[in-house]
Amino acid sequence: MHVLVIGGGVIGMAIAYEARRQGWSVTLVERNHCGQATSRAAAGMLVPVTEAQFGEEEMYHLNAASLDRYPEWVERLEGETGIPLHFRTMGTLVVARDPDEWGYVKHFFELYHRLDPAVQLLTPREAHRLEPALSLNIAGALYSPGDHQIDNWQLIRALREALVRGGVQVLEDTPVERIVLADDRCTGVETARGLLEADVYVLAAGPWTHQIPDVREVLPIPLRPVKGQVLILKPTATAPMPERVVRGFQAYLVPKPDRLVVGATQEEVGFDPYPTAGGIYTLLEGAYEMVPGIYDMTLADILVGFRPTTPDHKPILGPTPVENLVVATGHFRHGILLMPITAELIVEYLRTGQVPTALRSFLYERFR
Ligand code: GLY
Repeated sequence: MHVLVIGGGVIGMAIAYEARRQGWSVTLVERNHCGQATSRAAAGMLVPVTEAQFGEEEMYHLNAASLDRYPEWVERLEGETGIPLHFRTMGTLVVARDPDEWGYVKHFFELYHRLDPAVQLLTPREAHRLEPALSLNIAGALYSPGDHQIDNWQLIRALREALVRGGVQVLEDTPVERIVLADDRCTGVETARGLLEADVYVLAAGPWTHQIPDVREVLPIPLRPVKGQVLILKPTATAPMPERVVRGFQAYLVPKPDRLVVGATQEEVGFDPYPTAGGIYTLLEGAYEMVPGIYDMTLADILVGFRPTTPDHKPILGPTPVENLVVATGHFRHGILLMPITAELIVEYLRTGQVPTALRSFLYERFR
């Protein structure tokens, strides 16, 4: 079987990787460079519990199942490429700066504690003991010890390297100009490199999926970009890193071996690619009030990403009305976390022709 994947973010690359593991012939086309858009702007938090929302238990279960698969993926990718992914359990502290926020955190504690009984509430002093970089001037914190994280920049490098080493044809700088359809089947995709043909096509172009000519007409996917601005800080001798993920109401801080990621705004402004003064102010104020030591850090970069988002905040995964066209997008805030399970379920569907039970709540047909 020949599979053609459209989109070289972590989702597209992971599907290509998993498809290649089946022994299939795989081509991946990416309009720019693999992983350099939304996947790069992500923070690599693998935090099903502290990303959970009331009424979205289905998403929690998918997120948690994907986290369970991470150790195996990390072992394989690190083994094949020698690129360390810095996959770590370090827990998350959700910090309340004032009594209002503390009320909100205690409300969420009910949900988080139901999902993971190890979640606990901490006084400011207890929180500070656990994370010395934290301000003492807070109202309290919630600690979720089971949360993980990964270095998403290293993950991007490793996935691309594993694809190339594994014999996947990776075509970068190759935008898809047209999807060729005949009798409810896809017969090829036209690109600047000419017509590319395969047996099965996977649409994994994130928020740009329905900007591909023809896709909007054939698959009117209700997808919108939700902008996120992210700061990259570098620690200095006088500004040590926090040791764990610190989340608050205006910002989260995710320490990596070589940088501190401060994210992220959540803005409904379409594909506006520019950082804004207000966005950066919000992130810095929120981060500084939780971890004052960031004041002395170097501001190394500002990134802007676009979360692919559906009306119900759930991804769209699996078959479409076009017989041999499969979709994997709409991962919203959870693209890095949902990478392993997305790839495994999509490839299971391609292998068996049967929709896996775990995919049933995430099918395109719920929007038809
Ligand atoms: N998962 C974090 C974010 O989307 O900002």
